[in-house]
Amino acid sequence: MRDDFQKILYGVLIGFVVVLVVWIGYVYVAACGFSLGCERAAAVERTPIPTLPAATLPAPKPAEGQANLTKCRVAAANLIGAWVSAGYPETEPFPFTDADGVACQGTFAEDVAPLFVEANLWYPGAIACSTCHGSNLEAASAQLDLSTYSGIVAGSRRASESAQGTDILGGGVWEDSILYRMLVVDKTMPFGRPPDSPPEGPVIPAGTPQE
Ligand code: HEC
Repeated sequence: MRDDFQKILYGVLIGFVVVLVVWIGYVYVAACGFSLGCERAAAVERTPIPTLPAATLPAPKPAEGQANLTKCRVAAANLIGAWVSAGYPETEPFPFTDADGVACQGTFAEDVAPLFVEANLWYPGAIACSTCHGSNLEAASAQLDLSTYSGIVAGSRRASESAQGTDILGGGVWEDSILYRMLVVDKTMPFGRPPDSPPEGPVIPAGTPQE
């Protein structure tokens, strides 16, 4: 009686272990096939977003007459040079030839003034000219205010707000100007400019092409 019970108990235990081993084997083979490396379980590269075919909209065509809105491309110092050579007009448009040889027109307010007041323009990380050469003459480097038209024309080393300083525009002859020397020849401005930066400064969009 006791022996029979032991036999049944062992039978059930062994049967249980056999079923367990067969089941684990089945699961392994089902998942990995008959290989020990189980390559099938290797990570598959997936994107977090369901992949859609790239959208292919036709490129928008500029409407008739809007082509004029396309800007010219010109090196920053050459643009200032063209403005100085034209007699540095405050509101009148001035002509310049852009980097692609296209005849263009610009204005002080639209195209020249930003070169003196915008940061990150002459080189990445550059601070704006007007940060050092601001409207507060006492604090301004070289007592030069590059933040307004009247300040630029009034020049540097000014004794007071009303005083006329040293002309930085070479009297309209760009290559003779202090500004040209600082920007193009010595490349000292904006202060901290990397020595390997192009002498004419970065090529920027400015002005409009003339037909
Ligand atoms: C970090 C401050 C700083 C920035 C930014 C800066 N300057 Fe200057 N600038 C100076 C200092 C300081 C002097 C005086 C240098 C000296 O006396 O030798 C000077 C001198 C000049 C002068 C010569 C004035 C004279 O009569 O000698 C000109 C022109 C000039 N800067 C133009 C510019 C222009 C244009 C920019 C922007 C493209 C610019 N500066 C950006 C600090 C700055």
